[in-house]
Amino acid sequence: VNIAIFASGTGTNAAEIIRYFKGHNDIHVNLIVVNKSHAGVFKVAENNQVPAILINKDSFYNESFLEVLGDYKIDFIVLAGFLWLIPSYLVKAFEHKMLNIHPALLPKYGGKGMYGEKVHQAVIQNKEKESGITIHFVNEQFDEGEIVFQEKCEVSELDTPTTLAQKIHQLEHKNFSRIIEKVMNHAN
Ligand code: GAR
Repeated sequence: VNIAIFASGTGTNAAEIIRYFKGHNDIHVNLIVVNKSHAGVFKVAENNQVPAILINKDSFYNESFLEVLGDYKIDFIVLAGFLWLIPSYLVKAFEHKMLNIHPALLPKYGGKGMYGEKVHQAVIQNKEKESGITIHFVNEQFDEGEIVFQEKCEVSELDTPTTLAQKIHQLEHKNFSRIIEKVMNHAN
C-alpha cells in the first residue's frame, strides 16, 4: 500500500513518516507532492530518495492529477502541513483514505488561514490553558472532516508561539505515523 505525502513547509512530519515506514512490510511512502518551490520538504525527499513533485494550482485543481497519483500507485494521502483546499474530485477518490494533521484541538482554531504559527498565536492570545493536535479525515472544507485522534498539551503562561509550536511538533511526531498505520490497516 503506497502513501503520498502532501506538504508545503519544512517537512519535519514528512521526515518522521518516512523514517517510521522505512522497511515496513506493507506500507511505503512513494511520493511527496509539494506546492512551494523552495519548501524544505524537498530536501527531506532528496535525503530519503523519495520522489517529489512540484504542483501548481492549475494541475492540482484538475482531475487529471489523479493520473499522476495513479502513475505512483498511490492508495493513501497524508497532508503534513499542506495548505490548499482539497478539491472534491480528490476527496471522493480518497474517501477515508486521506488524513490531515492540524496543530490545535479542532473544532477550535481551524479553518481557512489557520495554520502553523498563526494557530499558536491565537491560542496564546486567548489565554487557553491547553492546546494539542488533531488528526482527521479530509473533506471539502478546511479542517472539518471526521476526527480520528486528538492529544492535548498544556499551554503555560510562559509559552510563546515558538515554544508552543515545539510542543505541538513533538506530539505530531510521536503520534502521526502510528495513527496513519492504524487507519491504513483498518481501511485495507
Ligand atoms: C504542522 O505543525 C502541521 O500541523 C501544520 O503545519 C505544520 C507543518 O510542519 N499544519 C497546519 O497548520 C494545517 N492547517 P512540518 O512541515 O514541520 O511537518
